[in-house]
Amino acid sequence: MVKVHFRKITRGNFRECLNLQVNESQKSLVATNAQSLAEAYVDTNLFPFAVYDTSACGYEQPQVPMLGFTMYEIVAGVGFIMRLMIDFKYQRQGYGRATMIEVIRRLKLCPDVEIIATSYRKENEVAASLYQSLGFTPWNIEWAKSHPTEIYVKFEGF
Ligand SMILES: CC(C)(COP(=O)(O)OP(=O)(O)OC[C@H]1O[C@@H](n2cnc3c(N)ncnc32)[C@H](O)[C@@H]1OP(=O)(O)O)[C@@H](O)C(=O)NCCC(=O)NCCS
Repeated sequence: MVKVHFRKITRGNFRECLNLQVNESQKSLVATNAQSLAEAYVDTNLFPFAVYDTSACGYEQPQVPMLGFTMYEIVAGVGFIMRLMIDFKYQRQGYGRATMIEVIRRLKLCPDVEIIATSYRKENEVAASLYQSLGFTPWNIEWAKSHPTEIYVKFEGF
């Protein structure tokens, strides 16, 4: 099974993060990494990470390229996975699933997290089936009704 390794975004790797790209048809499904990093700069509840293959673990300077980006938020008892993207060159190799598994592992370790949740755009069928297969089910929280273009799901495997 493919495994991933997370690193913080730093002076040393943020340019590589900004250069990651999704397919043209996926651009409407996720914010740019530039936007996500700007949000994280002003909001201490946000935790952005660079995603590498697990073979980067143990190397101060990863010997392998950055594959993707993810960011979660911890607020009001909820660990909310706000962003998940794998560069188009590395998609369909198991890294998206492995990234979700690593995010869930990390969120489960946080004492403030009582619910793990995420959302995706209604038309994002790949995200819908990925999250469902990982154990996410519809999250009927009242405020989600004011975001009708998004589907909110929460993790049942806690
Ligand atoms: C969603 C995304 C992160 C998946 O990354 P990935 O590395 O390709 O995912 P994986 O290789 O782990 O595949 C996960 C599952 O999705 C399926 N899948 C991935 N891309 C697919 C595609 N283009 N069409 C159909 N199925 C696809 C895989 O077959 C796999 O299913 P399986 O485990 O049942 O075999 C990636 O497509 C992406 O960055 N999309 C743009 C941003 C986005 O939509 N983010 C999520 C919502 S914010």
